[in-house]
Amino acid sequence: MHNDIEKILISKEEIEEKCKELGAQLTQEYEGKFPLAIGVLKGALPFMADVLRHTEVHLEMDFMDVSSYGGEMRSTGEVKIVKDLDTKVEGRDLLIIEDIIDSGLTLSYLVDLFKYRKANSIKIVTLLDKPEGRTADITADVVGFQVPNEFVVGYGLDYQEKFRNLPYIGVLKPRVYGGE
Ligand code: XMP
Ligand code: MG
Repeated sequence: MHNDIEKILISKEEIEEKCKELGAQLTQEYEGKFPLAIGVLKGALPFMADVLRHTEVHLEMDFMDVSSYGGEMRSTGEVKIVKDLDTKVEGRDLLIIEDIIDSGLTLSYLVDLFKYRKANSIKIVTLLDKPEGRTADITADVVGFQVPNEFVVGYGLDYQEKFRNLPYIGVLKPRVYGGE
């Protein structure tokens, strides 16, 4: 285990197993369709790769990079598009892929944007759900794991851009972010 990690919440093996399960579920849900899978950068990258590897439908992939103004550990709801999609979403079945839903403000912004752009359908798949953090009215259609209201890192999730490459989800030691 990495020296900055206090405990592992979800192991590499549990994530692998979950990606298989969710991939099979998405295969059923999108049978006969040609969805556009939208990864929200940068955090969704490992999950997107692993879950889509286990799907057996034709799909297209694209990426969106958004940043929220304000604090680095919480989002504020005011969202800036850093990189927009290259693909037109009008009439498409969208599958938004996220690492974590906390307040839900980021996704609520994206869902409104894609509705405005006339998507045919919008589903959300998230690896992690932190229901206690929710302020926006957003629920994911497919959830990997629920996590407690703690700041988590690894498998795409960062603290100051570090720890995205860990193969598991863990909690940082308080000293890493200036605690005792
Ligand atoms: P909202 O609040 O808009 O947040 O649902 C989504 C984004 O906030 C970040 N976030 C976290 N990042 N560990 C992280 O590394 C966490 O525990 C955490 N909680 C929220 C993340 O960027 C996510 O996309
Ligand atoms: Mg993020």
